[in-house]
Amino acid sequence: MGSGRPRSCRRLFNSLVEQGNLRLKTIVMGSLFLIFILINSFLLSSAPIGRAKKASTFIRSEWPSDDIPLGHEAFAIPKGYNAPQQVHITQGDYDGKAVIISWVTPEEPGSSKVQYGKLGHQYDLSAEGTWSNYTFCKYNSGYIHHCLLDGLEYSTKYFYKIGAGESAREFWFQTPPKIEPDAAYTFGIVGDLGQTFNSLSTLEHYMQSGGQTVLFVGDLSYADAYRDNDIGIRWDSWGRFVERNTAYQPWIWSAGNHEIDYMPDVGEIRPFKSYLNRYPTPFLASGSTNPLWYAIRRASAHIIVLSSYSPFVTYTPQWIWLRQELSKVNREQTPWLFVVMHVPMYSSNDVHFMEGESMRVAFESWFVQYKVDLIFAGHVHAYERSYRISNIHNDVSTRACFPVPDKSAPVYITVGDGGNQEGLAGKFRDPQPNYSAFREASYGHSILEIKNRTHAIYRWVRNDDGKKVPTDSVVFLNQYWASNLRQRRLKNHWWKNHIFAF
Ligand SMILES: [Fe+2]
Repeated sequence: MGSGRPRSCRRLFNSLVEQGNLRLKTIVMGSLFLIFILINSFLLSSAPIGRAKKASTFIRSEWPSDDIPLGHEAFAIPKGYNAPQQVHITQGDYDGKAVIISWVTPEEPGSSKVQYGKLGHQYDLSAEGTWSNYTFCKYNSGYIHHCLLDGLEYSTKYFYKIGAGESAREFWFQTPPKIEPDAAYTFGIVGDLGQTFNSLSTLEHYMQSGGQTVLFVGDLSYADAYRDNDIGIRWDSWGRFVERNTAYQPWIWSAGNHEIDYMPDVGEIRPFKSYLNRYPTPFLASGSTNPLWYAIRRASAHIIVLSSYSPFVTYTPQWIWLRQELSKVNREQTPWLFVVMHVPMYSSNDVHFMEGESMRVAFESWFVQYKVDLIFAGHVHAYERSYRISNIHNDVSTRACFPVPDKSAPVYITVGDGGNQEGLAGKFRDPQPNYSAFREASYGHSILEIKNRTHAIYRWVRNDDGKKVPTDSVVFLNQYWASNLRQRRLKNHWWKNHIFAF
């Protein structure tokens, strides 16, 4: 479906010309570039539209998906009385100059202060946070601390220290580059992680990937599989499990169904109680009134986080906020526009089939209008990538209700394959729909390397029983610059006649 390799070559070439502000004056120079682009496009296999759909033939061998036992070293409790544990950080403002540091002290509140600075073991700055705790069924939480570090410098490594005396612990993080259209940055995409050995494999693979920030597509601990005191215990163990990475780089959180924790049979009727107590978001900075939906800007990306389990139909707070946020996106500053949600709007897996349909009806036309680059989701415990397609012309009075190729549409990526205790969603619908470009029921994670304003390299990495296997890869052309270049090309006769005639 779509345009095929020659058009892809032209798009690639267009953007590379734009990237370097090249002004080719002679046919000789143009010819050299033509050869260069042909070789590169062949090597990179870059077209997200127009390639044959693929259902992977990989068959995963059996591997238990039970939760790791609580006594396992993956959940090790740090040494020392009341030592801080479950350390995690997230972006603390709109533009990446602030970080929220969170941790838990088990025995008593202790200090909520963070000491920090640019030199290891020397801390010339400090910030004071707050703490709180909560009960859930028969569980009493530890003392949960959140501390905002703001006014940070871009592209700077900061060291930080929390806790007191011999129980103090030290970590570090790197701030992102300033908001700039060509800022290179690497995001990981992880979802439905849980706390099994498959989860551990995903986490270890991600940590070897060079990812600088995780876009987390929901379903964190799967603690809601437990009852009584163990619900909270498994939230705690998950916090210690992911600390190896979350203490050192921001995870941008979105909530899934396993964060709802709605259990009226045991008197717990406040949705997202554990999640909201433990995992703060910078929602106020983007004008949101709810921590479950918000936006941040980081390097060259504008990232919008939505809540699949909060009202989103017309005139609800999330709908009003999203309409406003999309109108604020400045693609000249942040050319890359991503949306993160839990329930996929397009998935051809039998499990959770069409659960995202109501949000698709509510928001898809906006995502096409604003030329969103990529939409990341989880929920379905498998991997799938779509072509650029839309289904925005259907209504109840016509029968035109099917996805069609659309150059302005996002690519939809489902990465709900982190490795939780529920196991894989192994049954896809047959035949594979035309909108589905690649799908496979394995555990894994994704990496998106933004190179500049025009190009990003994407890959999905399978956990093959502990081995790390790059499996699906695409070079994405930025949606904003792609359409700009198409318009410029039409206006430029010299380019049109001499360079793009292939
Ligand atoms: Fe889910």
